[in-house]
Amino acid sequence: MKIFLDTANLDELRKGAAWGIVDGVTTNPSLIAKEGKPIEEQVRAICDIVDGDISAEVVATEFKQMVEEGRKLTKIHKNIIVKLPLIRDGVQACKALESEGIRTNVTLCFQAGQALLAAKAGAYIISPFVGRIDDMGEDGMELIEQLVQIYSNYNFKTQILAASLRTTNHVIQSALAGAHIGTMPFKTLDALFNHPLTDKGLEQFLKDHAKAFGNK
Ligand code: G3P
Repeated sequence: MKIFLDTANLDELRKGAAWGIVDGVTTNPSLIAKEGKPIEEQVRAICDIVDGDISAEVVATEFKQMVEEGRKLTKIHKNIIVKLPLIRDGVQACKALESEGIRTNVTLCFQAGQALLAAKAGAYIISPFVGRIDDMGEDGMELIEQLVQIYSNYNFKTQILAASLRTTNHVIQSALAGAHIGTMPFKTLDALFNHPLTDKGLEQFLKDHAKAFGNK
């Protein structure tokens, strides 16, 4: 499973990129707004840090404007993926951009039927939101499992990007279900490193080594 960071914060992206395990980045209008810079500027800076697919979302909600905004976003960098909300005009824009060879990430997916439409429109990526479904008292991971099954039934090429992953368990379950990509905030990626037995084991190794050879 590819690991993407779900952030527009450059410090977090630099830290993640330095570990050598970040394959791409997802942003959304809320994450861009948090950084306070215009989307073109922020996304260009992100592309300089991470060499992989970088999703940048349109804010237009009507077909024609969505397509125009999408085309404009792709001019920023060759790695830009145009993110479109899963509404009627968004799916139509996905189809139009796909016919121009522009790659899209159809976002705000909460139901398998929506994902079927995005795949039929030629989306490069579909983004089902696991955490936000859990917030409603339902099981977000069930949606990932359904999408893996449906896309495999019909050999759709659209990649399933498990989004809104808030816990290490969300990441593990997404990988078990067969999601192609998991996108997560920096703190979730950072938490994946942690295990108390790793810390305890390392402490013991170093103690034993120091006892035998000193602190050389
Ligand atoms: O960027 C889309 C998604 O990952 C947002 O996550 O935690 O705001 O539901 P969250």
